[in-house]
Amino acid sequence: MNARLHNLSYPPRLELARTPTPLEQLKRIGARYGVTLYIKRDDLTGTSLSGNKIRKLEFVLADALSKEADTVLTCGGEQSNHARATAIAAAQLGLKCRLILRTGDPANPPAPTGNILLDQLSGAEIVWITPEEYRNRDEIFKREAAELRDKGRRPYIIPEGASNEIGAWGYIRATEELAANLADLPGGIEQPTTIIHAAGSGGTAAGLILGRLLSKMNTRVVSINVCDDETYFRRVIGRICENAIRTYNLDISFSRDRDIEILDGYVGRGYALAQPEELKLLYDVAQTEAIFLDPVYTGKAFFGMIRELKRNPAIFGERIVFMHTGGIFGVFPLANELAPLF
Ligand SMILES: Cc1ncc(COP(=O)(O)O)c(C=O)c1O
Repeated sequence: MNARLHNLSYPPRLELARTPTPLEQLKRIGARYGVTLYIKRDDLTGTSLSGNKIRKLEFVLADALSKEADTVLTCGGEQSNHARATAIAAAQLGLKCRLILRTGDPANPPAPTGNILLDQLSGAEIVWITPEEYRNRDEIFKREAAELRDKGRRPYIIPEGASNEIGAWGYIRATEELAANLADLPGGIEQPTTIIHAAGSGGTAAGLILGRLLSKMNTRVVSINVCDDETYFRRVIGRICENAIRTYNLDISFSRDRDIEILDGYVGRGYALAQPEELKLLYDVAQTEAIFLDPVYTGKAFFGMIRELKRNPAIFGERIVFMHTGGIFGVFPLANELAPLF
């Protein structure tokens, strides 16, 4: 099977991420469960720009520049990796950036650590809002964009996680890259492979699913949700895939029921709330393989993968690729929760 995705014409893209990222084997952890476990190092897409978001932003920011925007507006949780990546990429492109971030008490915003510190160092303006206000973020986006326009600026709104039909190209492209990685392995691209990743706003999952369908690769994509539930993610991922297929006239057949596989049950204490057993695994993976997972996304997804393997080592088949989608800066605000493990 050819590793290339056929007849694909990509929308405009900026080169912001360090790609292709390596595919590495986690020999010691894989051996514990009798599987061949690989990790796709999308935590190496950059230093400050580490993680999955920059792949999506390459396409979304190309669109922003084509529309002559001078300011990007986006949103997320207080330690949002997406907000940090947007702030840094904006600085790199000479754009201004306004971040709308969710926090319990906007009058007492969180200390500038982890991603927040990088947001501020990159010169982003931060607007703190409550979780209730965040539910109406579309209204807040409209309000902030209108205010910027009144000042003569040209705002461009990037949705949560850059998860829309434009951002999805980031992980269509990553699939093509992964196909080339797999082609070099024993068993090649024909050997069945399960791709496992954390789902937060659905764009990575949508790109991986579309990439799989476009390449007709022998892969299964398992999305482990770190918030909300299966019904929510089927809807969100389904919508992004359908919008992309319609907007770009993709010649594939897609079905929400057949093509989206959500492994629900690993949200734990809730979004961005880590449990001791998740942190223990994060510590174990760092010591065993020198891989640093993050407590919000990859730590939960890795925990889910290992739990399932403990129950049934055959559950994902012989060859697994865990997508390391980044998030390293999320460990710093958790120093106090991690300290008892040392
Ligand atoms: C480190 C990390 N991993 C995974 C995800 C999930 O990706 P997505 O939002 O595309 O579902 C995110 C962002 O939400 C993230 O920051």
